Amino acid sequence: MPAFMRALVTGGAGFIGSNLVDALVERGDEVTVVDDLSTGKRENLDGAISRGAKLVEADIRDADALRSIFADAKPGAVFHMAAQIDVRKSVADPAWDSGINVGGTINVLAAAQEAGVPRVVNTSSGGAIYGEGQTLPAPESHPVAPEAPYGLSKFCAEQYCEIFERMHGLKTASLRYGNVYGPRQDPLGEAGVIAIFCGKLLEGGTPTVFGDGMQTRDYVFVGDVVAANLAAAGSQATGPFNIGTGVGSSVIDIVDSLRRISGQPFDPEHAPERLGEVHHISLDTSRAQEELGWNARVGLDEGLRVTLDSLR
Ligand SMILES: NC(=O)c1ccc[n+]([C@@H]2O[C@H](COP(=O)([O-])OP(=O)(O)OC[C@H]3O[C@@H](n4cnc5c(N)ncnc54)[C@H](O)[C@@H]3O)[C@@H](O)[C@H]2O)c1
Repeated sequence: MPAFMRALVTGGAGFIGSNLVDALVERGDEVTVVDDLSTGKRENLDGAISRGAKLVEADIRDADALRSIFADAKPGAVFHMAAQIDVRKSVADPAWDSGINVGGTINVLAAAQEAGVPRVVNTSSGGAIYGEGQTLPAPESHPVAPEAPYGLSKFCAEQYCEIFERMHGLKTASLRYGNVYGPRQDPLGEAGVIAIFCGKLLEGGTPTVFGDGMQTRDYVFVGDVVAANLAAAGSQATGPFNIGTGVGSSVIDIVDSLRRISGQPFDPEHAPERLGEVHHISLDTSRAQEELGWNARVGLDEGLRVTLDSLR
């Protein structure tokens, strides 16, 4: 994707979205953010807005509002990050979750198609849609077996991307992230444990590990996720792409790494395992490497160091 283009980022005031907006502004793109600020924060965009990015407060469930925002912005690419990301809330109220994650995505795709947008980069979750990993690292062809409505709504949104491509020729790629961590991360997200543990370390507290702490996830640094979005927008490739490191790290690995890089004592206390938790998942990223030319570059120690520094 050439620089100096117009980009629209839904959910751009959030953790991952605002990191992407900064990168787009940095390379000279004109950026419009659509966000209802339900979990996102205006201050995440302070730097970007001072450099010309525009924030439009709107709810992606409002199809008419999206249609007129997209018509005004005339984006060359849309990055769709807006979603409700709270797995527990999706269990408590699946209809509300799907209203945002499925209904909202349909509105984004319809507005993009009407505005003649050539390409939409959608956001999905490799951590939430595969369920318990049968083959590790899991390729995109791994069976889809989400443990919660959140994973199902993210997968359903992907399927709407595919049907908009079949019905209307709208080109879409769905990036299935692992557990994303880094500056501006909220404890509620899929890699929330990292934000929580970093906070504990800085206040001299004790991290709580549920179960034996040997459950593994594919933790991917937000800067790598931003690079994957730019690569996906610049390519012609469509369909699902796993975006992770290919390596599963355990909760104990995170505690050990934080102890190592801080040089502080940091010993966990254990609490009973939480029911319904996936034990092991990591993502095979061969497809992203081959078709997007993308690779995760930041290892866990380096990424944790940057995350800790951002909180000091
Ligand atoms: N954080 C992770 O580990 C992770 C992993 C896999 C996928 N994802 C996906 O990445 C995307 C970004 O997640 P994040 O971690 O940055 O979370 P976030 O909550 O920080 O960002 C989501 C953004 O969407 C906005 N939003 C929510 N509902 C909206 C609505 N109805 N209309 C308009 N805006 C709305 C929020 O205000 C927020 O700014 C989401 O699509 C999420 O499903 C995140």
